[in-house]
Amino acid sequence: MVGTTPPATSAFTIREAREDDWSQVWPVIRDVVTEQQTFAYDPAMTEQEARRIWFLPAPARAVVAVDGDRVLGTANMYPNRPGPGSHVASGSLMVARHARNAGVGRALVTDMIAWARRNAFAAIQFNAVVETNTSAIHLYESLGFVTLGVAPGAFRHPTRGEVGLRIMWLELRTG
Ligand SMILES: CC(C)(COP(=O)(O)OP(=O)(O)OC[C@H]1O[C@@H](n2cnc3c(N)ncnc32)[C@H](O)[C@@H]1OP(=O)(O)O)[C@@H](O)C(=O)NCCC(=O)NCCS
Repeated sequence: MVGTTPPATSAFTIREAREDDWSQVWPVIRDVVTEQQTFAYDPAMTEQEARRIWFLPAPARAVVAVDGDRVLGTANMYPNRPGPGSHVASGSLMVARHARNAGVGRALVTDMIAWARRNAFAAIQFNAVVETNTSAIHLYESLGFVTLGVAPGAFRHPTRGEVGLRIMWLELRTG
């Protein structure tokens, strides 16, 4: 199929997710979760469970990257912890396989950072970035995230064996 691969995506925008986006969001999540390479989610997760953990109630927020009506990727974001931990944000993102490497992931993280700043979060903490997820680590580091530490062997990768989980942090406080 040399020379026939279309560009992954042309133009896209990020907007708040709507209930009727779910039918396109679910396949993106299902692919990532069943692949078991990047998220420590139960691969047997049902659609209903996925919807509950992805479309969280406010103050959490879910967004989609869309090209027209086509969902290319999705992210959610929320306070990392309740109560005394709620001034630090966290979030997750997934891009449809066919739409990767075209800037969608970067746009979703940039949008998440803007949301966290608007809502006066002190930082964003990613709790479990799989050590072998080089594109995600590259992306986060390019936007200013640093690795605070690695839980050794905390993730059972289907082909690489036990690999580390990074805690990554973006400081948003100035001064
Ligand atoms: C990680 C993920 C969100 C990235 O989304 P994406 O739309 O492909 O990302 P972008 O195109 O915006 O940017 C990817 C960056 O990684 C780089 N990259 C891609 N593959 C890479 C690799 N193997 N090693 C290093 N960098 C890589 C790209 O060059 C780009 O960097 P650049 O802008 O400096 O050129 C996407 O691959 C995904 O959904 N993966 C499965 C779920 C997942 O891992 N979510 C994150 C969990 S922490």
